[in-house]
Amino acid sequence: MSLRRAHIVYILFILICTQTFAEDGSQLWLRFEKVSAEISAKRTIKTKSVDPTVLLAKQELEDYWKGNNVELLIDRKLTKLKDGFKITSSGSKLQIVANKPAGLLYAAYHILQKQNEGAEITHYNVEEIPSYDIRILNHWDNLDRTVERGYAGYSLWKWAELPQVLSPRYEEYARANASIGINATVLNNVNASPQILTPEYLTKVKALADIFRKYGIKVYLSVNFSSPKVIGGLENSDPLNKDVQLWWKNKVKEIYQLIPDFGGFLVKANSEGQPGPQDYGRTHADGANMLADAIKPYSGMIMWRAFVYNPTKEDRAKQAYQEFVPLDGQFRDNVIIQIKNGPIDFQPREPFTPLFGAMRNTAQMVEFQITQEYLGFSNHLVYLAPLFKETLDSDAYADGAGTTIAKITDGTVRKISKSAIAGVANIGEDVNWTGHHFAQANWFAFGKLAWNHQLSSEDIAKEWLKLTFTKDETFVKDVTDMMLTSRETVVNYMMPLGLHHIFAFDHHYGPEPWGNMPGGRADWMPWYYHNANEKGVGFNRTTSGSNAVVQYNEPLRSLFNDIQTCPENLILWFHHVSWDHKMKSGLTLWEEICTHYDRGVQDVRAYQRLWDKMESYVDAQRFKEIQSKLKIQIKDAVWWKDACLLYFQTFSRKPIPYYIERPIHELEELKKIKLPLKHHN
Ligand code: GCU
Repeated sequence: MSLRRAHIVYILFILICTQTFAEDGSQLWLRFEKVSAEISAKRTIKTKSVDPTVLLAKQELEDYWKGNNVELLIDRKLTKLKDGFKITSSGSKLQIVANKPAGLLYAAYHILQKQNEGAEITHYNVEEIPSYDIRILNHWDNLDRTVERGYAGYSLWKWAELPQVLSPRYEEYARANASIGINATVLNNVNASPQILTPEYLTKVKALADIFRKYGIKVYLSVNFSSPKVIGGLENSDPLNKDVQLWWKNKVKEIYQLIPDFGGFLVKANSEGQPGPQDYGRTHADGANMLADAIKPYSGMIMWRAFVYNPTKEDRAKQAYQEFVPLDGQFRDNVIIQIKNGPIDFQPREPFTPLFGAMRNTAQMVEFQITQEYLGFSNHLVYLAPLFKETLDSDAYADGAGTTIAKITDGTVRKISKSAIAGVANIGEDVNWTGHHFAQANWFAFGKLAWNHQLSSEDIAKEWLKLTFTKDETFVKDVTDMMLTSRETVVNYMMPLGLHHIFAFDHHYGPEPWGNMPGGRADWMPWYYHNANEKGVGFNRTTSGSNAVVQYNEPLRSLFNDIQTCPENLILWFHHVSWDHKMKSGLTLWEEICTHYDRGVQDVRAYQRLWDKMESYVDAQRFKEIQSKLKIQIKDAVWWKDACLLYFQTFSRKPIPYYIERPIHELEELKKIKLPLKHHN
């Protein structure tokens, strides 16, 4: 071989290597290979539709589908499919039918994903109807591009250069969402700036909506309840004030002129200092209905959040129920109450919010947090599908046994005009979108469960791994096991047995069970939640305590109320338990707590070992980046264990059982750690 040829071969080799191995995670789970000219000449992708979404589906298949002929059809009679699809195969043809254009796009991604997973799809018959009508991401993105509780860099939305400059990532974002069935997005933080509703910002919003439309994604906005006063110059924002009502009507009209398929508003009102109808002596229903009336002519929705609590003597966990149950039945049919999965705030484990089982005549939706505010930010590997499923599968006993949160919110138990499910996004400007490569799995899992809440966490994990890394069986099996246990692991090293909210003040990353800010709100202090003293630990929410148990339907009420029947993974949520209490394992509560913290640490050590063994299956960059994150996670797990055990030991006054790993820190040294407030990034 001549030197010149050798040189060319070498360059080609490098190119192939970088193509195959240079990996930064930016492609997410979308790693379809372009089909060769030969394959594309052999098969046809046909449709009569000229709808841009259908044409996009056709294009995706033209580019990546290696299988047989495909026909894409819209059948307006098939309303029962909603925005799902039906695929049937006959001979060498796949016929895909949908009621809506987006259904065909979802079907295209469905078969492309199956193809990439290596599934047999020549003879393929399937019907998919989504569990929820609205599958929505909530971005907590501020207009200055900081992200509240965002850990993957600044916001994707470059407001300053919109609408003139359109980052290519807007379309990539839309495509990624469409590929997992997400069909709606709230662009801005629930702590909303009134500025978002100014004409200047609305033209920016329109630019994004115009890009997302083809992907079947509707844009929603978080609105500040004081907008009429702040940007409209009105005297107040009282929902019963005719001028205020008119201001909203006109504002809504202005929005729909720009964005004809605008989705609606998300509202955080009278919560954590945000303005709301109660500022004028009105109720949440007055506020929500006023907006609902303004948006009704355009078929828009109002998602009204139930995340409300005040620093009163009342147990924080009871307050959403107390505010909203009396209003049951008073909301318009285009209002849906958006309820966090747990009654406090996205903790590693909470029981479900009892409101789900109590409102009979009000549409309700679950809000999950995909961003890991309380789960190690984007440093810890925590696969959230098991957490999402735990809530969805919880039986609220709303109409006797079997009324799960999934069935209440998807419209099975009681018909609701539009069902919905929300996830607080973990997406930012980082190259890999989510900060941690494995956090992509949580975005993916949210989409998949919003589409079909019957899917198992395991199947979703496997699918994601195959699409994102490799189909190799050993890799998929071992890493799936790690993912599936990872949520319980974080519960163990942070807050086992129902402990909650013992985080360092405000930034919610590290442990601070001793935390106390003189003069600060009690319900923001760890001691408010753990109540540790020389007798025991835990929050007494039984009939002899705050009586939060009464908000649950029977048999849960009695089950939670009795220390003997309360599930142990929530025992310290509902009970103040003596250090010597005998647990089911035969250990005392103190020993059991120690054992859980230790198990959490040992499991992260096992993840490190497992990941190192996976080196040959994964590209160098992602392997290394995940390896580095696991190093942080193990340090943090040990930090959590030592901080919590050494602190609680000052009350229990018992030895840490000798079979568990010894603390490596001094309590006093841990108390000195002050992390900078990471409110935004
Ligand atoms: C949590 C979070 C806040 C957020 C709030 C909400 O309290 O820490 O940053 O604004 O939830 O959901 O509104």
